[in-house]
Amino acid sequence: MNQGKQIVDRLENEKRISCEALRELLETRDEDTREYLRKRAEAVRRGIYGNAVYIRGLIEFTNYCKNDCYYCGIRRSNRHARRYRLCEEEILNCCKTGYELGFRTYVLQGGEDLYYTKQRLCDIIKTIKSGYPDCAITVSFGEQSEDFYKKLYAAGADRYLLRHETADESHYGKLHPKEMSFTNRIECLQRLKEIGYQVGCGFMVGSPYQTVETLHQDLEFIRTFLPHMVGIGPFIPHKDTPYADRAAGTLEATLTLLSIIRLLHPHVLLPATTALGSIHPFGREKGVLAGANVVMPNLSPVDVREKYLLYDNKICTGEEAAEGLWKMKRRMNQIGYQVVTDRGDYK
Ligand code: 5AD
Repeated sequence: MNQGKQIVDRLENEKRISCEALRELLETRDEDTREYLRKRAEAVRRGIYGNAVYIRGLIEFTNYCKNDCYYCGIRRSNRHARRYRLCEEEILNCCKTGYELGFRTYVLQGGEDLYYTKQRLCDIIKTIKSGYPDCAITVSFGEQSEDFYKKLYAAGADRYLLRHETADESHYGKLHPKEMSFTNRIECLQRLKEIGYQVGCGFMVGSPYQTVETLHQDLEFIRTFLPHMVGIGPFIPHKDTPYADRAAGTLEATLTLLSIIRLLHPHVLLPATTALGSIHPFGREKGVLAGANVVMPNLSPVDVREKYLLYDNKICTGEEAAEGLWKMKRRMNQIGYQVVTDRGDYK
């Protein structure tokens, strides 16, 4: 057996990977190794989740943000961003549309917008939960206080997404301004887990200054933290950010990392992200075939979608849109998978 396949077998059995082995998998041009990695990840995923693909209705409720992350299109210094926030009624309309389409998880994602106090968000969460008690609510609203997280949880939020962005502190410092703290980010993730949320972390593939070493630290973080969800997608430059001229992350590296994460942490809920769909017309299918088991179509009102621009050329009106769900279903069927109407909890 070739060296690449041995690495894959060891990864599957030991559920960890060395930095050298990671480098080998990321750099190999050997098609057999790549194919083998993908197939093992797909088999492991199939053993746990069958051929189900879970869907999440993404509601991008505000693009105001008090942070200034160097990579992100909705950073506060971006004067060109057209800002918006949805009101409660608009959010509830998204939920209604989503429910009829078969969504049983809503993801409330927003920039760190101070207008959305814990009181306002709790009210919205309670209203959604009382209207749709069979649905899960995921919140993705950045770094907040422990009390904020607890109140949201008490109001009915089930899950929380907070990408750690990088598990290497000095790399974190190159992606974020000084006022943002790596320690606080990690502490937020720990608190969320303690409170009882199903928690998601994650990172961009190919972010500026990322190396095999920092990626290895990301994988070690995932291996030890054991989040319920991991969101990864390629970094894609946004023209109005300090990293406008950096290269985007690649499809190949993203797929390789999806497969590795599936083998490290077999039960993880792993989305084939919008960013992956944005860099390749079949990005989401390739993601699922590499071990992902979640897609997150956009439920936001059509007129705000083009304003929630974290990166350039974001797709938002095709099969990644909730109203295009039938196309997504067809595409998943074509590769042997089934989009299901289910909360899609962690098994
Ligand atoms: N390219 C890809 N992903 C991005 N994100 C933010 N900016 C970009 C970009 N330019 C990701 C971050 C963030 C998530 C909501 O979107 O990882 O946590």
